[in-house]
Amino acid sequence: MSRVAVVGAGTMGNGVAHVFAQHAWDTVLIDVAPGLLERVLATIRANFERQVKKGTVTAEQRDAALARIRTSSSLDAVKDAELVVEAASEQPETKFKIFRELDRLAPAAVLASNTSSISITTIAAQTRRPGQVIGMHFMNPVPVMELVEVVRGMETADETVVKVVEVVKALGKTPVVVNDSPGFVSNRVLMPMINEAVSCVMEGVAAPDAVDQIMRLGMNHPVGPLALADLIGLDVCLHILDILHHDFGDPKYRPAALLRKMVAAGRLGRKTGRGFYVYRD
Ligand SMILES: NC(=O)c1ccc[n+]([C@@H]2O[C@H](COP(=O)([O-])OP(=O)(O)OC[C@H]3O[C@@H](n4cnc5c(N)ncnc54)[C@H](O)[C@@H]3O)[C@@H](O)[C@H]2O)c1
Repeated sequence: MSRVAVVGAGTMGNGVAHVFAQHAWDTVLIDVAPGLLERVLATIRANFERQVKKGTVTAEQRDAALARIRTSSSLDAVKDAELVVEAASEQPETKFKIFRELDRLAPAAVLASNTSSISITTIAAQTRRPGQVIGMHFMNPVPVMELVEVVRGMETADETVVKVVEVVKALGKTPVVVNDSPGFVSNRVLMPMINEAVSCVMEGVAAPDAVDQIMRLGMNHPVGPLALADLIGLDVCLHILDILHHDFGDPKYRPAALLRKMVAAGRLGRKTGRGFYVYRD
């Protein structure tokens, strides 16, 4: 395979396109938001520039990669792709509609979703070929992070898993295959830890910096759970915990009241300048 279409050019989509183009894939990046694609190309260029300065990519590799990226505002542009990676907004109806259209527009392609929390089995059921549908859960920032959680839906064919594992390796990343389940493994393990950290603050057990220091210095985590929650976005954390809570029906996933309150107050973390910490830049 050497031709990929990336649907959705937000935070994740631009990183996914960057990594594919860097590894010699013809890449088309698709988004419906007016004016976004020019800005995204500028972001990708700036990110390559940073890699050139660091010496991880040469100027020739940067130019070749940038020349491999096309953009489009129409989903029709997926038609030649052998692999489609959907990284559109995390709303079930948006993704279901996209997959119904991809089924028709790219009949031979493997269809992957970068969803963090929507069932791959349910997404696959929107198509007439669930065997070719799979989760490719890239981590943010995509050019930097090594892991891709490969999510096998109930009907995903072995052949699809094998192909996608090979693709991930060819991108210089490490695939880890898991079965479809709410939150997969990454968020099912991470979000309850963040939630407990929030509960510690809420109950007055320790202040945010003490909680984070304990996890950094005592457990060797590179970032404390509350600083990480601020980076991810407290609204995103709340959303994923709500899904875990709803889908498992288990009270152990119930979001801490303080998390809900902070989201209601607009303290979403880095993106709004205030979460568990204050960000002045
Ligand atoms: N942000 C993260 O840290 C992170 C990490 C892992 C996975 N994810 C997942 O990746 C996906 C994208 O997340 P994001 O943070 O990049 O979101 P984002 O909001 O930054 O970007 C989503 C993009 O999708 C576009 N879009 C919406 N409907 C579309 C359509 N019909 N066709 C084409 N484009 C469409 C929007 O215009 C937007 O630009 C989500 O499923 C999310 O759960 C996010």
